[in-house]
Amino acid sequence: MDNKIIDGKLISDQIKKEIAAEVADMIDHGKPAPHLAAVIVGEDGASQTYVSSKEKACHSVGMTSSVYRLPAKTTEQELLDTVKFLNEDPEIDGYIIQLPLPKHIDEDKVINAIKPSKDVDGFTSINVGRLQLGLPCFVPATPNGIMELIKRSGIDTVGKDVVVLGRSNIVGTPMAILMSRKGIDSTVTLCHSRTKNLPEICRRADILVAAIGKQGFVTADMVKPGAVVIDVGIHRIEDPNSPKGYKILGDVDYDEVYKVASKITPVPGGVGPMTIVSLLQNTLKAAKGKIYPKE
Ligand code: GUN
Repeated sequence: MDNKIIDGKLISDQIKKEIAAEVADMIDHGKPAPHLAAVIVGEDGASQTYVSSKEKACHSVGMTSSVYRLPAKTTEQELLDTVKFLNEDPEIDGYIIQLPLPKHIDEDKVINAIKPSKDVDGFTSINVGRLQLGLPCFVPATPNGIMELIKRSGIDTVGKDVVVLGRSNIVGTPMAILMSRKGIDSTVTLCHSRTKNLPEICRRADILVAAIGKQGFVTADMVKPGAVVIDVGIHRIEDPNSPKGYKILGDVDYDEVYKVASKITPVPGGVGPMTIVSLLQNTLKAAKGKIYPKE
């Protein structure tokens, strides 16, 4: 095995085994299997794929999953009624509302109607606020998965310079908060579209997290020799030579950056599989009342 590559598939399989053992133990003790629900509004192709893989992952660890498929013309009130139903259903431990929502629905209003104790995506203001305060909360799946990758790959973070590319609410901003926490103790620079001298800042990074949403954006000249490179990008690129007709590439120019990095996450098979496993970890915590006590 090439130990330069941070194998997200291998690490996520290991975590899945740990989750499956905990689920089996709950069932042995007469408790119901943790139950994750997903709500999907409309026919967005990528959303359908994400939700199917979340369902498959649930079943692979013995959890229950259900999917609420609502038509694209669903009104905001109808969706809020579904949220209320899910908040009150004692059989559902946690749920997600797959984003994006159709334009006529106020995403913020719907997300913040989710009961924080069932918000396994960690998207409600309560969970986001608690994350910033360092209080127990549901951490969004992608940053949580990256933290697991870093810990389980034995990457030293104390006093290291971390550069995060991209300030999204789902990835970049929580990533910056988590890496600067006590115990992790990195010094974080959060970069965005208005950052000046970006290549120069990237070259200072001991750990570079690319979540910028541009395929192949990070080139070898932007990476310090020996740096750890985490690629969050997922881009489907047409490729007539591949059996599926496309290939998946990240935000990093993998072949060139591989030569200078000390460790790197591949795409696919790096951060992606960790994201789904993090959602399962959050669902398990919800079912066990680990973040918010069960009612
Ligand atoms: N759309 C893209 N990523 C996500 C995610 O992590 N959660 C939800 N709910 N929707 C998404």
